[in-house]
Amino acid sequence: MTTAKIIEQAFFTKFKQEPLLVRSPGRINLIGEHTDYNDGLVLPGAIDKELVFAVAPADGDTCCLHANDLQESIEFDAGCGKPADHSWARYLQAVLQELQGYGECVTAVNCTFGGNLPPGAGLASSAALTTGFALALNQLFGLGLDRATLARICQQAEHLTGTDCGIMDQYAALFGQRNNLVLLDCRSLSVQHIPFVHEEVRIVLLNTGVTHALADSEYNVRRQECRQGIEILQRFMPDLESLRDVTLTTLEKAREELGPKLYARSRYIVEENQRVRTACSLLSCGDIAGLGQIMFATHYGLRDLYEVSCPELDFLVELAADTEGVVGARMMGGGFGGCTINLVRPDASQRFLENATAYFGNSFSQNLQAYAVQLSDGASVIR
Ligand code: GLA
Repeated sequence: MTTAKIIEQAFFTKFKQEPLLVRSPGRINLIGEHTDYNDGLVLPGAIDKELVFAVAPADGDTCCLHANDLQESIEFDAGCGKPADHSWARYLQAVLQELQGYGECVTAVNCTFGGNLPPGAGLASSAALTTGFALALNQLFGLGLDRATLARICQQAEHLTGTDCGIMDQYAALFGQRNNLVLLDCRSLSVQHIPFVHEEVRIVLLNTGVTHALADSEYNVRRQECRQGIEILQRFMPDLESLRDVTLTTLEKAREELGPKLYARSRYIVEENQRVRTACSLLSCGDIAGLGQIMFATHYGLRDLYEVSCPELDFLVELAADTEGVVGARMMGGGFGGCTINLVRPDASQRFLENATAYFGNSFSQNLQAYAVQLSDGASVIR
């Protein structure tokens, strides 16, 4: 049975209504990490791991939400701001509250959701949650909001739950296209689809299973450090608004004033934006080997300059670097756990996965999960 059928049936059993069905995907990010909240460039894509939502208007003022995979249900008053108990419900509640600002017609709903997108793996499951639910409410209540507005609303909803995230994940979930990456300029919010159809490599994700508690707090700290870096760099470039506009030459001039930490953070961002540009040129001429090399460079920047990696991620990237047939690898997403993204030649895939699973298990007594993913379409109404 398809996920959509399972969710539809679970919804019907619980609510005895015919629902609207919507799907929303997770994302990979090929390159451009931590650049989104620095007005920079990112190159993510939606993947074939997704959440499906069944939604219908509720009779009274009470929203009833059901997470089918967790077998958890929650109820809250659509008009009241008291945060729901489960973290997944707080995201959905925040979306509802944000959308209520766009129309009085947005009232309580019943909703069941679930799918094959693992939470906490750095695949932007929270963005899949918010964008899927927002798209469903947009359709259900005829709000007519476009995808760019929905992305902003969903980002704001995440901010309300305490993570000061950028806009990459929401754009990937809403603007993804099958067999394409999404080149997003996070300043102008312009989107360009870049075909990624290369027979010679597969996109393989290795999930460390690690979710460090400090991921959210350190993420917010990195954002502050970037702001502090800008303030110091403004002494050298008075009109500067974001790290995107800094050159390596200016960074060197400001090195002493920045101090080692802010210099390292800023340097990583400046170099990473450049790497995204290089990645796009390499992709346009089909240079997958060159692309792989700059993915490794991103990892070393995230590890040494931005300091958001962890031993498990470093271990997997080192293993990838030592494996013939693995073209490129790096940690992906906010950091401190989650997945590595690997470009692997099909004939090397089996051996790489076997070795990674065995060696990782020996070193960390954790089970490694591997997913080969395809680039897929962004969130959509199923019916
Ligand atoms: C998380 C955030 C994104 C982005 C990445 C790092 O996924 O939600 O906005 O900042 O981390 O690139």
